[in-house]
Amino acid sequence: MKNAILILSVILMVSCKDSPSSKFKVLAENESDPKTQETANEGKRLLEAKCYVCHNPKSDENNVLAPPMAAIKARYSKDHSTKKSFSDAIWNFVEKPTNEKVKMKGALNRFGLMPFQSFDEKEIRKISDYIFDYQIEEPEWFKQHWEQNHGDKNYHQKGKRMNGSFNMGEQNLMERGMTYAQSTQKVLGENLMLRLQKNGIEDAVVFCNERAYPLTDSMAIFHNAKIRRVTDKPRNLENQANEKELEYIEFFKSKVKNKETYKPILTTENGTTHFYSPIITNTMCLNCHGTPITNIDPKVSLLLSTKYPYDKAVGYTENEVRGIWSITFND
Ligand code: HEC
Ligand code: HEC
Repeated sequence: MKNAILILSVILMVSCKDSPSSKFKVLAENESDPKTQETANEGKRLLEAKCYVCHNPKSDENNVLAPPMAAIKARYSKDHSTKKSFSDAIWNFVEKPTNEKVKMKGALNRFGLMPFQSFDEKEIRKISDYIFDYQIEEPEWFKQHWEQNHGDKNYHQKGKRMNGSFNMGEQNLMERGMTYAQSTQKVLGENLMLRLQKNGIEDAVVFCNERAYPLTDSMAIFHNAKIRRVTDKPRNLENQANEKELEYIEFFKSKVKNKETYKPILTTENGTTHFYSPIITNTMCLNCHGTPITNIDPKVSLLLSTKYPYDKAVGYTENEVRGIWSITFND
C-alpha cells in the first residue's frame, strides 16, 4: 500500500510539473514594468489554480469549504506587516498545517484542519507576495461579515488594484483546459490519499462518495466552467458519459492501448468550447476500481455495493482509461 501511495504521488508530481505556464495580459495600476506585471500575473494564476478549490471567493457564505483568502489576508496582516514576514507565515502554515499553527480557530472548528498537500515553496511565496501586494477578489458578503464578527470597523482590503480581469480569451484554450483538469485532479487525488493514509480505505470511499462532487463543483464555479468526470462504466450513475463523450473515451482507449501519443481534444460547437482529457488508472485506483477480492477488500466491496448498487466501475487494471474530464468553458 505504501508503495502504491508513493507511485501516485510521483505521478501527481510529474503531472503538475508540466502544468502549462500561461501568458495572461493584465495591466496593473501604475505599473509599466513588464517583469513586475508578469510576477503578479503568475501569483494570481497560481492562487486561482492551487488555493481557490477551497478558498473560493465565488462560493456563497453557507456553502464554502474554507475561509475566503481575503479573511486569511486580513488576519495574517495583523501579525505580519512586512511582505517577507507575511510570506514566511503563510509558508510556515501551508508547508505543514497543524492545529497549533492555526490563527483562525473559528475556521478550524467550522471546516477542520486544512488538508496537507505537497506544495512548492517558490510557488507559495509567489502566491503570498501577490496576496500581500494586490487586492484579491473577496466574496460579496465578506466585508459585512468581517466587520460584524471580527471587530474591524470600516474594513478595507489593503493592496494595489489589478486593472481589468484576466483576458481568458487570449490564453491558449488547450492550456486552460489542462489547468482546470490537472488542478481538480490534484486536489481530489491528494485528499483521497490523505484519507487513505490516515483513516484507511473505507473512510477513503466515504471521501469519494461525499467530497468528489463538491470539490469538483467548487473548482467549476470559480473558473466559470462546467467540469465533469464522466465514464463508460460509471460507479455513480450521474457520471455516465453521453454519446459524444463515449466516442472520445474510445479514442483515448485505443491510443493508450497502442501506446501512441495523444493530446486532449478541443472542440467548438455553436461558439461553445469543450475540452476532453483522459483519466488513467494507476495501482492505487485498483483498491476501489480493480478486481474484487484480488484488489478490492471484501469490506470495501460491501460498502461500495450499499452506496452504489449499480456500480460498473470495477475490473480495471493499471494504465487504463477510467474516464475523461469533460470541461465546457462558459466564457
Ligand atoms: C482542500 C482544501 C484547501 C486547499 C486546496 C487550500 N486550503 Fe488553505 N485552508 C483550508 C481549510 C479548511 C482551512 C481552515 C482551517 C485551518 O485553518 O486549517 C484553511 C486555512 C488556511 C490558512 C489559515 C490558517 C490559519 O492560521 O488559520 C492559510 C494561510 C491557508 N489556508 C493557505 C492556503 C494556500 C496558500 C492555499 C493554496 C496554495 C490553500 N490554503 C489551499 C483548506 C484548503
Ligand atoms: C477509496 C476508494 C477509491 C479509490 C482509491 C479511487 N476511487 Fe474512483 N471512485 C470511488 C467512488 C466511491 C466513486 C464515486 C464517486 C461519486 O459518487 O461521485 C469514484 C468515482 C470515480 C470516477 C467518476 C466516474 C464514476 O465511475 O462514477 C472516476 C473517473 C474515478 N473514480 C477515477 C479514479 C481513479 C483514476 C483513481 C486512482 C487515481 C480512483 N478513482 C481511485 C472510489 C475510489
